[in-house]
Amino acid sequence: MRHVIAIVSAAAVMLGVLAPTGAFASDAFYPKGDGNKANGETIFKEGKGEVPACQSCHGEDGSGNDDMGTPRIAGQFFTFLLKQLEDFAADKRMDTTMFVMNANAKGLSQQDRRDVATYLAARKIDFKGSDLKAVEAAGQVPVGLDYKGRALVEYGSPTRNDGFPNSLGSKGPGAPACKSCHGYAGGGAPPLYPMIGNQRYVYLVNQLKKWRDGSRANDPMGQMQAVARKLSDDDIHNAAAYLTGASDLTSGNPRTPYDNRFGDH
Ligand code: HEC
Ligand code: HEC
Repeated sequence: MRHVIAIVSAAAVMLGVLAPTGAFASDAFYPKGDGNKANGETIFKEGKGEVPACQSCHGEDGSGNDDMGTPRIAGQFFTFLLKQLEDFAADKRMDTTMFVMNANAKGLSQQDRRDVATYLAARKIDFKGSDLKAVEAAGQVPVGLDYKGRALVEYGSPTRNDGFPNSLGSKGPGAPACKSCHGYAGGGAPPLYPMIGNQRYVYLVNQLKKWRDGSRANDPMGQMQAVARKLSDDDIHNAAAYLTGASDLTSGNPRTPYDNRFGDH
């Protein structure tokens, strides 16, 4: 019994560290970026040399664009943004969507990349996710079911190491809960785990497929590739449908927040 209590409290301590609320994490513990915000803003709005303005593809508010498949980058965590820009610059991550980000990152100096990441991390926007009706109407990417995606994000895929087939039709454990690394409602757990809640739908789907087929492989310890290999197409569409519109965290309240879409109260 004492053993059980020890395990539970150790887990609670770990959760406290890994999945604090977004506001707590980014404001208290977490480096916000020490670059030059003004230079970052100029690069975002006007570009630099051969590098076009970031806002021309990522939107004036930095919330991304589903038609282009670009991500929301405003309000993402500083260390994660900087890591992605460094990975693009070093060809550790390849942009196989528009084939532009590697050149964009290389066209900036290391200090520029730090500056633009600092600017973006500090830019808070009120973006509640993709317009899924518009994505559906565009007809390029199938739209999943948010309530099924929520179950996957919160609890993992309903496939166990108990002889039942997993969602890909083979035996073995299902995918772990996304929440265990990415926090409640995909709010993120910096410095390693990015915010994936209120990210663009098309971008989420693309990245999950890229992790699954290995065309994106810049994840520490192969964590995302291992997760994505357990996801079916439906799992990916469902998880993205939930995540894009996931409720914000309640500041100071580490419990799973209410989500009005599911009549949670
Ligand atoms: C011509 C269009 C275009 C321009 C201009 C552009 N981007 Fe991108 N960006 C993309 C696309 C497309 C992706 C997604 C790549 C992929 O699918 O892997 C992306 C991805 C990113 C990511 C990865 C985000 C994540 O969540 O992992 C960052 C960071 C980023 N861009 C920053 C910038 C910055 C900073 C600039 C300006 C210096 C910029 N981008 C200019 C198209 C663009
Ligand atoms: C074991 C920990 C772990 C679990 C569980 C996990 N992830 Fe991740 N995920 C990561 C890490 C680490 C990264 C950042 C990789 C990098 O640095 O480029 C990431 C990145 C991502 C990205 C790319 C974000 C971006 O802006 O580029 C998406 C999308 C994503 N995860 C979705 C999911 C989904 C959906 C699930 C559940 C099915 C999940 N993850 C479960 C560790 C995890």
